[in-house]
Amino acid sequence: MSTIEADRALTDALDRRDGLPAAFRFLESGCPRSAWSTMALHPMAQHWLDIHGWFRGQIGDLQTLGNAWREGAIDTAAYRAAATPRLRRLLDNLHHHHTLETEQAFPMLTAAEPRMAAGFALLDRDHDAIEHLLSAMAEASNALVRTGFDRTVSAVELAPLAETLTNRIERGAALIGNHLRDEEEIVVPVLTLRGAHLRF
Ligand SMILES: [Fe+2]
Ligand SMILES: [Fe+2]
Repeated sequence: MSTIEADRALTDALDRRDGLPAAFRFLESGCPRSAWSTMALHPMAQHWLDIHGWFRGQIGDLQTLGNAWREGAIDTAAYRAAATPRLRRLLDNLHHHHTLETEQAFPMLTAAEPRMAAGFALLDRDHDAIEHLLSAMAEASNALVRTGFDRTVSAVELAPLAETLTNRIERGAALIGNHLRDEEEIVVPVLTLRGAHLRF
């Protein structure tokens, strides 16, 4: 494996990435996360953080529902009724958000700070990795939804479908959470320090 490939393998380990790789932290001192709540961020940066906050809230609610189902506080039919429409809305919004970022926002931000090109390429590859998982989450959700229309499905048959969905939501929460964090630490400094001329 070449050095470039080794770096890429390291930075692309989205499920194990425990912080933004050092190569993409060269703007951090002028706009550290610890100062975001008190400094004047670019208006779009604040909007970005608000959208990410909504994603985190939705994922957290889905995890809470999954835990309630695992602990037996709600039955599988109640879990299906509460979780599947919420997941549908989350997946639609995440897919739309990724598309806007990859097709419009990242090219504009790369032009504003060309030294961050590799960072935006990393975020694009994150989107590809996450989209595979979103498809798997939708599949698991649809399999569970279909059982709502089939009265012959027993509670014993339902449980593994709910388990699959819960596991995929858990994995999604980890990957998406890491991506949101690292993306914010690239986008917020680039917009705030290099993007005064940018409006989306
Ligand atoms: Fe993203
Ligand atoms: Fe994002």
